[in-house]
Amino acid sequence: MLYFHFVFAIVLWEFCALKAECRETCICLSQEIDGLRNPIHIEPAKNEGENVYFIGEQIGIIYLYNPKQSLGNKLTAYINVSDRIVLEKNAHDERGLLGFAVHPMFERNRKIYLYSVRTLNERQFAVISEITSGDVGTERQLLFIEQPGDIRNGGQLLFGNTDGYLYIFVGDGGPIHTKDIQAQNTSSLLGKVLRVNVDATEVIDNKLQFYVIPHDNPKHAEWRPEVFSVGFRNSWRCSQDAGKPSGEGKGRIFCGELGGDIADEVNIIEKGGNYGWPVKEGNTCTNVSAKCDTLDNERTPVLSIPHSDKGMQALVGGPLYRGRDVTSLDGKLILGDVFGGSLFTVGEVNGQWKTEPLPFCDKGTCSCTAREHMSSVLLSFGQTHEGEVLLLMTDDVSIHPGSDRGRVLRMHAPAFPNPVTCGASCLQPMTALLVIAGWLCAKWS
Ligand SMILES: *[C@@H]1O[C@H](CO)[C@@H](O)[C@H](O)[C@H]1NC(C)=O
Ligand SMILES: *[C@@H]1O[C@H](CO)[C@@H](O)[C@H](O)[C@H]1NC(C)=O
Ligand SMILES: *[C@@H]1O[C@H](CO)[C@@H](O)[C@H](O)[C@H]1NC(C)=O
Repeated sequence: MLYFHFVFAIVLWEFCALKAECRETCICLSQEIDGLRNPIHIEPAKNEGENVYFIGEQIGIIYLYNPKQSLGNKLTAYINVSDRIVLEKNAHDERGLLGFAVHPMFERNRKIYLYSVRTLNERQFAVISEITSGDVGTERQLLFIEQPGDIRNGGQLLFGNTDGYLYIFVGDGGPIHTKDIQAQNTSSLLGKVLRVNVDATEVIDNKLQFYVIPHDNPKHAEWRPEVFSVGFRNSWRCSQDAGKPSGEGKGRIFCGELGGDIADEVNIIEKGGNYGWPVKEGNTCTNVSAKCDTLDNERTPVLSIPHSDKGMQALVGGPLYRGRDVTSLDGKLILGDVFGGSLFTVGEVNGQWKTEPLPFCDKGTCSCTAREHMSSVLLSFGQTHEGEVLLLMTDDVSIHPGSDRGRVLRMHAPAFPNPVTCGASCLQPMTALLVIAGWLCAKWS
């Protein structure tokens, strides 16, 4: 019965798709994966199959997810570093496995890069490491960045889609005193975006280093050579523009930056740029330094969200939409609130970035299979093989036995017109049939 309605609706939708009045700027959600513990990153596993993904949990496991496998085998642990990371269970801890990136030539070299927090001699480090063929025995550590505190550990990794280099987004590590924040100290790797070439090695001071510095990294005498841009507090989730078919926009990196008391921000990451923390938050001077008006190479945020704006608790940066399903999102950056359950977009109109809320559709307008509700906590975003938007969410951020309430949701355009808003067009036979299909679907699904 459900199947019949679904096919019926699809056929009708194909007829109706050209009519603008059938479309609303709202989104529906379907559930793709559940039973996860704090999913923090998902990436298509391109050569493993059409709908196959790598998905990472904060507790240190990266699964290979294959929807075609039989029920119990859909999720198989591909990498398990849970005994190498530090993460306090039964709490909302910001440490653990925080991100990973699949090498662009994975098909040939089977390499995955991990960003995790670990302890060594009772000191705490953000560690960037490389694992080949899913075998933790092959792990090589590229970078150790000592963390001054337990929080704001960064965690995003991504490979530049125009240069092939690994970008590493390091938080300020949460020192207790503001004066100890190293985000403006260019000899420190804390509070920075780093960029390295992992396809070559180099011997430095008699030690083998598993990366080299790209020849066009910013060259400032007093900068650590890995540093690409400076002045970050904690970029929680960055994404890269896949670009228009013409190539326009490709390679732009957007980050959601979690601010302190004043404002969160959205930044476009540029080489050599200074993004202000802790001297500035959003466009406001924090007064920790008199330098506020004279920051070298300062980059102002695309968007600053003052914490005085009620409703926004903590920003999560998402992808710039280049998919096909939700045409109303074309070219817009998708963002969300960690706790609020709200989503919004930022789009560029004549050089100005404007925000708009991204509401959920009335259930009756969603296809029969895309009527899920959000979970209470938004951890991260991802994209499907086709560039559609995925949301990584949970109802329980503390990790303890049975806390497997994390899931992956997928965004869809509405499938049926809304009888309340489609007005006179609802009287047209095709639209009317669609409204009925939506109603039937709500009744029987
Ligand atoms: C991961 O490794 C830990 C420690 O070795 C083990 O207890 C756990 O069962 C493993 N998890 C999976 C999903 O393989
Ligand atoms: C800047 O960072 C370097 C390397 O971590 C450190 O040795 C130095 O003390 C820092 N400078 C300040 C002023 O904190
Ligand atoms: C910084 O100092 C200026 C001038 O005293 C003041 O107006 C402003 O509110 C201060 N900013 C913050 C964030 O405290």
